[in-house]
Amino acid sequence: MSTHLGAHPGDIAPLVLMPGDPLRARWIADTFLDDARCYTEVRGMYGFTGTWRGQRVSVQGSGMGQPSLAIYAHELFKEYDVQRVVRVGSCGAMTERVAVRDIVIASGACTDSSMNRLRFEGLDYAPVADFGLLRAAHDAALTVAGDAGVHVGLIYSSDSFYPARPELSARLVEHGVLAVEMEASALYTIAASYGRKALAVCTVSDHLVTGEETTAQEREQTFGAMVEIALTAGLS
Ligand code: HPA
Repeated sequence: MSTHLGAHPGDIAPLVLMPGDPLRARWIADTFLDDARCYTEVRGMYGFTGTWRGQRVSVQGSGMGQPSLAIYAHELFKEYDVQRVVRVGSCGAMTERVAVRDIVIASGACTDSSMNRLRFEGLDYAPVADFGLLRAAHDAALTVAGDAGVHVGLIYSSDSFYPARPELSARLVEHGVLAVEMEASALYTIAASYGRKALAVCTVSDHLVTGEETTAQEREQTFGAMVEIALTAGLS
């Protein structure tokens, strides 16, 4: 067992879907997986392994923010030989080019976090998605969700849900950033450090420009579509 995961070697599949919310991990296991078994309950950060269309898949909660995700991503790659992690999360749209309920597949993730700055001693590393996963997710998204609401582009992994200087968002948007969440940048960096593959697929739960928000029912529906995209891409 590792420090934060109560799993034995072999309990976790080579593909892990990673929602922030551990109760979403349980919902994914209950809704999509056959023969799902819970392999960890440490700190309530549930993880499950089951099968989808006959192939083994795990689902592991990451918690909110990059320090929390980093703990679980490290242990998955280092202790359990996980090969691919697909984050399935929500994001806030930063531009009117993106609408609530849309899906954003993150080709890269900027950040205000000091985690990468410390790792690279001030050098600006550019965390990017694995191209094979990205391409497979885009193909799957066009089938599952249709062309209209699917975006591939840059996102912003912020350390603050309530930012001290929201005006900085505008500058990021001027440089092509589509949406904000809180985890992808660390996931991409840690996967790269282990030579493994990672991708973040996010549904837009709220809009920072228009103030629009999705209902709980809409979130569940769009979340389901995103999980199907992530499973298809991760197992292709
Ligand atoms: N900010 C950060 N993370 C988020 C948001 C947001 O507005 N919406 C969903 N995840």
